[in-house]
Amino acid sequence: MKQIENETIKAYSFLWDWEINNNNKNEKTHFEIVQNTLNDEIVSGNIGLEVGCGPGYDIEYMAAQYPGKKFAAIDFSSSVFALSKRLKKFNNIQLIRASALELPFKAGQFDFVYSFGVLHHTADPVKGFVEINRVLKNRAQMVLYLYEDHEDNMVKYYLLKLVSLIRLLTTNMPNKALYAACVFASPILYILFSIPAKILNKFRKTILIANKVPFNFGRHPFDLIGDLFDRFKAPIEKRYGREELQLSLSCAGFKDIKLTKIHDTAGWVVKAAK
Ligand SMILES: C[S@@+](CC[C@H](N)C(=O)[O-])C[C@H]1O[C@@H](n2cnc3c(N)ncnc32)[C@H](O)[C@@H]1O
Repeated sequence: MKQIENETIKAYSFLWDWEINNNNKNEKTHFEIVQNTLNDEIVSGNIGLEVGCGPGYDIEYMAAQYPGKKFAAIDFSSSVFALSKRLKKFNNIQLIRASALELPFKAGQFDFVYSFGVLHHTADPVKGFVEINRVLKNRAQMVLYLYEDHEDNMVKYYLLKLVSLIRLLTTNMPNKALYAACVFASPILYILFSIPAKILNKFRKTILIANKVPFNFGRHPFDLIGDLFDRFKAPIEKRYGREELQLSLSCAGFKDIKLTKIHDTAGWVVKAAK
């Protein structure tokens, strides 16, 4: 388990160090996409936690939108150090390098917890749910994004099987070589999938088809690099069906569990209360 954790740390430290030093993202954040999907506010109370902040766009957005509130964010990649520098103008963010499976906080501290695309990359997602439950105040809410297994979309379901086979090779490739392959593949997949999906999305009759097209969320030819690297390098990738996810969250002590499918990137948006 330690070895897989170290590989995950190395992969994301590589990806985010590059991203933080070279990119200035000004597109919609994951936070906004999740909030639009829920059609509800995620931030509530005085103090919140983001688990697995990665390149930091979501925590930056929250801190800027809610300057009167306090935010903590953890991630176990070494990129938290570069991120601390980028976010130093915010005095309402506390960044900590820590594991999602052992949160460095006392019980019952947070008014909400948010996490996008993190726990499915850990060795024990249920332990992560239990940890989030522990640090939440009573009746406080968590909002998560997690991968789905596409049990209801045969095209994506079988594509995922293919991806799993390719991952046997790519998860063992050196970071730089895989990154270069993703730079090469991104424009090709953008032309093959993202552009047709955009066209289908323009017509009422074909919107549902557009939602099922892989990589429909690509906004420009090199937009898929990070997503591809994430898909093909992260050593662990757990995908949830509705029932398993519901059961895991209940076992971790959550109530009022609401599962919504996110449209443009696919996957589960989970809202649940302690
Ligand atoms: C797919 S990225 C998502 C990053 C960010 N939430 C976003 O939306 O862009 C997954 C992140 O989870 C972090 N991560 C994975 N396993 C973790 C663990 N056990 N503890 C803390 N962070 C973890 C990785 O370092 C990476 O930054």
